Amino acid sequence: MEERIISSEAGDQDLSFEQSLRPQTLRQYIGQDKVKANLEVFIEAAKMRRETLDHVLLYGPPGLGKTTLAAIIANEMGVNLRTTSGPAIERPGDLAAILTALEPGDVLFIDEIHRLPRTIEEVLYPAMEDFCLDIVIGKGPSARSVRLDLPPFTLVGATTRAGSLSAPLRDRFGVLSRLEYYNETQLTDIVVRTAELLDTEIDWLAAQELARRSRGTPRIANRLLKRVRDFAQVRGNGAIEESLAKEALELMQVDRLGLDHIDHKLLKGIIEKYRGGPVGLETIAATIGEESQTIEDVYEPYLLQIGFLQRTPRGRIVTEAVYRHFQMEVPER
Ligand code: ADE
Repeated sequence: MEERIISSEAGDQDLSFEQSLRPQTLRQYIGQDKVKANLEVFIEAAKMRRETLDHVLLYGPPGLGKTTLAAIIANEMGVNLRTTSGPAIERPGDLAAILTALEPGDVLFIDEIHRLPRTIEEVLYPAMEDFCLDIVIGKGPSARSVRLDLPPFTLVGATTRAGSLSAPLRDRFGVLSRLEYYNETQLTDIVVRTAELLDTEIDWLAAQELARRSRGTPRIANRLLKRVRDFAQVRGNGAIEESLAKEALELMQVDRLGLDHIDHKLLKGIIEKYRGGPVGLETIAATIGEESQTIEDVYEPYLLQIGFLQRTPRGRIVTEAVYRHFQMEVPER
């Protein structure tokens, strides 16, 4: 994937520092009010009954706070957080090693859970349902199955594509929470909060400008904030004012709606090469040199959300709003 300043991929920043910027409790967490209100009740009830929390599936576009919520759940339950991801678990033994090392009540976070191999999913079913593992020992006629008890635990799964999860796996989650894009006010609050933690002065209008250009995504808002802070430090007096923020964002090629050069390439590609569509996803991918999966998971959701793209049975089409955004003449269809 091409490098982009507004990527909502996690990247490999200094993890401990990144961690310290994240909210630690539901109270500190801004936005996702419905998800938060539900989790608050479920966590409180589980604690009152001295039980583990039911398994939780968090789904939605990247960068909206799934990992942060998993950490908050563990923190609020007063247990350890163990983290892994779908692609990292290749063999049943990998999962067995993780599960048997858990302490009672722990939260196991599996990111990108839709990428778990099916053979591993099957090991996970009895683990989620009955807290046990069925392990096959030996091969051929002498093979036998041994049942291993596990400590009770809470699985928190995260995915950008809930539709790719098998039905039996999805059905084993007691709580399914869909994360939504954040609105401008929520993102402004997040930018102000992070700036405070970074010990950086920012005025309200500047924070609002960053919020507007963050594609509804806190991860992008915080990344833009850090880059604009660099500009403020080098080109200004350290404080982030509206004019400086705007200038920095222009230099980073992040437009008024938060669209960057890759969004531009995608939208203009459809307009210039396919007369606005409809055009198939694979064709778009080949045209702009990105993987179709990346387009579908990372770039497209926000363009669909703001009504710039539409999915039709014959492919993607750009809407009139795109022509207006680029100050192009809207064609007759
Ligand atoms: N930083 C990133 N996401 C956040 C959120 N939802 N609330 C507060 N701070 C955040």
